Amino acid sequence: MVAPFALVEVGRPAPETAEPIAPLAEARAADPARVALGESLFNDPRLSHGDLFACSSCHRLDRGGDDGQVRSVAADSGRLDFNAPTVFNATLDFRLNWRGNFHSFEEQNEAALLDKRLMNTSWEELLAKLRADPDYSGRFAKLYGAAPGRTGVLDALAVFQRSLITPDARFDRYLKGERGAISGDEEQGYRLFKAYGCIACHQGVNIGGNLFQKFGIFQDPFAGQKTVTTADLGRFAVTGIEADRHVFRVPSLRNVAVTAPYFHDGSTASLGEAVRIMARNQLGRELDQHDADLIVEFLGTLTGRYRGRLLTSAAEHPQP
Ligand code: HEC
Ligand code: HEC
Repeated sequence: MVAPFALVEVGRPAPETAEPIAPLAEARAADPARVALGESLFNDPRLSHGDLFACSSCHRLDRGGDDGQVRSVAADSGRLDFNAPTVFNATLDFRLNWRGNFHSFEEQNEAALLDKRLMNTSWEELLAKLRADPDYSGRFAKLYGAAPGRTGVLDALAVFQRSLITPDARFDRYLKGERGAISGDEEQGYRLFKAYGCIACHQGVNIGGNLFQKFGIFQDPFAGQKTVTTADLGRFAVTGIEADRHVFRVPSLRNVAVTAPYFHDGSTASLGEAVRIMARNQLGRELDQHDADLIVEFLGTLTGRYRGRLLTSAAEHPQP
């Protein structure tokens, strides 16, 4: 299935093999100076009030594009409502955030900057800091012909995030015809992933990220839970439409082996457990250990490279 619309056209048309997953292409060429400016902003704690967080505090580009936390510590020292998703390949998702409540990086990022629990800043505060810095002032003047401003900041951040593509996963090489790129067990795991029906929701170039679906079609994953949070309500909390209760954007499974813990609330630490929860709640199937292990092996072939480096897990390498 093809995404109805994507944030940016990356990737190539489905290969002739008619596999339901398409290999990932390199990021589209972009002005390197704008990418570099966006990267500086993304890594700069001055984008938050009190210089508390950079975007990269929760979205670690030296790891899997997330922070390996169940739910990150917020600006108010509490815990956030949602697990921090990876920013890698987010440009391929049809909407952003677990509930898909944003259509573009510009919208999502501005909300993150102004959110009291995230960057907790204001344009006034942020632009004053950037304008006081001669390096930023020079780069904005060159690229946008003006002092650091809202449009330039959001544009540079978006251009940078569109470059966060992780091609060259072993599974991509397999899809392109290099049959030996994955093992027999991993290939068997891919067959099971299709046979059980995971592919109905996790497909396309991002192996997800192009549909809304209910979490809990056959069984209610929230049944035994003492409190159902606003976050658990999914899109219902955004739209108020009953049919949207517990509906989430189907997440991409690219790099999933290095982005534990799992689900919107980070409630599941192990990938094998996440796979079994999916089979039970989404497909009405109980997986035996053997099949769950094979699917996990397949998911391990979806880890790609950023700037040539294979992604690794932040959960195993906590922030110093
Ligand atoms: C304190 C942790 C934290 C910080 C700091 C933070 N984020 Fe996030 N980010 C999150 C969480 C949590 C979500 C998911 C929110 C949701 O689904 O409602 C998210 C979601 C995103 C997404 C959507 C990814 C997807 O899969 O849809 C993008 C893009 C993003 N953040 C970029 C940024 C940028 C740019 C900044 C800096 C301006 C930033 N974030 C700062 C925690 C953080
Ligand atoms: C009917 C649609 C649907 C089917 C079928 C489905 N999933 Fe999912 N999957 C989802 C949704 C929706 C979520 C997000 C749930 C949440 O966090 O609230 C998800 C989340 C996941 C996650 C966690 C990703 C993360 O980053 O936290 C994994 C892993 C996963 N699915 C694997 C599978 C596997 C393996 C199968 C087959 C056994 C499968 N899914 C079948 C819709 C589906």
